[in-house]
Amino acid sequence: MSAEITYGKYLRIDQLLDLQHCESDPPEHDEMLFIVIHQVYELWFKEVLHELDRFAEHLNSDHPALGGHQLKRVLKILKTLVGQLDVLETMTPLEFQSFRKFLDRASGFQSAQFRELEFLLGAKTRENLDRFAGNPREFANLTRRYEEPTLWDAFIRLIARRGHEIPDSLLNRDLTEPHSESSEVQDALIAIYRHDPALTEICEALIDFDEGFQEWRYRHVMMVQRTIGSKMGTGGSSGAEYLRSTLFQPVFPDLWAIRARF
Ligand code: HEM
Repeated sequence: MSAEITYGKYLRIDQLLDLQHCESDPPEHDEMLFIVIHQVYELWFKEVLHELDRFAEHLNSDHPALGGHQLKRVLKILKTLVGQLDVLETMTPLEFQSFRKFLDRASGFQSAQFRELEFLLGAKTRENLDRFAGNPREFANLTRRYEEPTLWDAFIRLIARRGHEIPDSLLNRDLTEPHSESSEVQDALIAIYRHDPALTEICEALIDFDEGFQEWRYRHVMMVQRTIGSKMGTGGSSGAEYLRSTLFQPVFPDLWAIRARF
């Protein structure tokens, strides 16, 4: 019989607690928080991808109500993702500066799971894929997402199967391209809001997600601004200036566009 399962064995606690290695030498006190918070983010990214994949499966198998359950969970996680920036904001610019040089070129810019999430949402660029060519595992995951339908594709295919008129050019689009707004999709969404409460609930959860994701970007850029001001990022971008250019870019533009039409 195999050895008894315990809390520590089940959760691989020894391995987990052995994953926090400060680069600063001697170790700077605040680097631990920086490492832990990024690792926690990566774990949540993993869980969010896991849930959103299930959400897409439910849409693909015509069970949007089941998908709504997954989406609700993701929205709660998103609140946590935004909220934990408060913890990082307890770090002063001086404290960050104490270990920043040890980060070299490391940056959230290189988070493959964050790019996976963006790709799943439709924000795909060849550049963001190619940046990961040096890591076969990350590159394979991202390539799959780059070529796969996005969540929005899954949603508009579902509503097409339910009789809404969605142009073939959208249903059979080049999946590696970003989404563009569509007046036909917007007409279908208006009809859904007027006549289909179950799908309306999914649409509202999607817009909650979109708003929450944009909120994370906003809170991240404000945190960056207060921590490094106008300095360049370790990832090589212009820093806060670059991050500001990513704000107010909705994930589901059609869902926003219809708001003025009621
Ligand atoms: C003191 C804390 C932080 C600072 C100063 C900071 C700074 C920056 C800067 C300057 C960039 C722009 C890219 C570059 O040139 O490096 C960036 C990008 C990014 N950071 Fe942070 N960051 C911090 C914490 C975090 C945390 C906790 C996460 C969570 C995973 C995170 C995730 C990201 C992501 C995903 C990007 C890419 C965003 C995009 O390209 O749209 N950052 N960060």
